[in-house]
Amino acid sequence: MLGAGAIPADNGDSARRVASAQDPFLTDSPAPSIDPRQIRLSVAPMMDWTDTHCRVFHRLLAPHARLYTEMVHANAVIHGDRSRLLAMDPVEHPVALQLGGSEPALLAQAARIGADAGFDEINLNCGCPSDRVQAGRFGACLMREPTLVAESVAAMVAACPVPVTVKCRLGVDDDHDYDRFRAFIDEVADAGCRMFVVHARNAWLQGLSPKENREVPPLRYDWAYRLKAERPDLQVLVNGGIADADEASGHLRHVDGAMLGRAAYHDPYLLHRLDVAWFGGTLRTRAELLRALKPYVEAQLERGVFLKHITRHLLGLFAQQRGGRAFRQVLSEGAHKPGADWSLVERALAVTESFQAGHDTDHERQLAEGLPTLQRQG
Ligand SMILES: Cc1cc2nc3c(=O)[nH]c(=O)nc-3n(C[C@H](O)[C@H](O)[C@H](O)COP(=O)(O)O)c2cc1C
Repeated sequence: MLGAGAIPADNGDSARRVASAQDPFLTDSPAPSIDPRQIRLSVAPMMDWTDTHCRVFHRLLAPHARLYTEMVHANAVIHGDRSRLLAMDPVEHPVALQLGGSEPALLAQAARIGADAGFDEINLNCGCPSDRVQAGRFGACLMREPTLVAESVAAMVAACPVPVTVKCRLGVDDDHDYDRFRAFIDEVADAGCRMFVVHARNAWLQGLSPKENREVPPLRYDWAYRLKAERPDLQVLVNGGIADADEASGHLRHVDGAMLGRAAYHDPYLLHRLDVAWFGGTLRTRAELLRALKPYVEAQLERGVFLKHITRHLLGLFAQQRGGRAFRQVLSEGAHKPGADWSLVERALAVTESFQAGHDTDHERQLAEGLPTLQRQG
């Protein structure tokens, strides 16, 4: 496997060369391909987590990562409060809107609205296993309906000028048939989808919670690798269980990109290390990166956003670091208080930095017992 510092070969470019040799129509395809550099590293769509504040923070850490919104149902995009559901800051680009749904006409309308709102890609969710999603016949159960997905993709491609992509599983329940997975991909690709994010495990629609569905069904990265080997004309991203930089780098030997979800959210500095390793640049400290967020935070506070809505995404910044627990504790205990502002973040940083300098060995215990030291510090 490549080390975190190694820059893997740009297999997206070579894929495109192979593709254009095999498929002379590719360059005229109505569905544009995405710049291969923009898909090497991406942060997964995560409901309740990857909102606009989270994405702005991730962008700061990883200037080259592709970012995804939480899933938004097509109906909500069409009828709901777009200023909230499609909230996006210009710094987020490239950023994809993930849609849920299974009605081609509605998905097409929502995709158009998303593209008009400035999203760089529209991604269709074919991987979410929750009961609510199953009741609405979208998400992972669409793996069983390739023709409906193909019709949806075709309608979306026709309706919007940005790439339409699909995030899928390998199959559902005990269906472990590579040929069926491949047939799903082929049919959807024929409809105009050039990029697939493969969450490389099945979804079990009965008996497992969504959380268990991200952990229990075994990972089969080899299916994603085989798909890329057999269909080099498609852009294939692998997702699921990627825990560190070495693992992420290893995937790039086989596919076009690695999409990280929970690891990126719980340890966001991993994103920064990957971005620097794969794209170059200087590694900045966690504190430097955090302080670079100050203008954004202050502008949001000015607009009436509560600090806690932003700081909840920052809690993992010092994960595995000395003082990381104190950082989380200062932020989580202070951010919901009326008037909480940037000074709280500075205070959390100061406490963490004092740990890192080795000045305060009892501090973490004191914090756990009710912040006496902090209160003394004001
Ligand atoms: C809190 C949470 C919310 C999620 N919401 C979505 C979602 O809205 N759309 C989606 O396609 N996947 C969703 N997922 C799944 C992730 O995108 C990803 O496929 C999964 O977590 C596996 O990747 P990981 O092991 O890197 O986390 C969610 C995952 C989590 C943890």
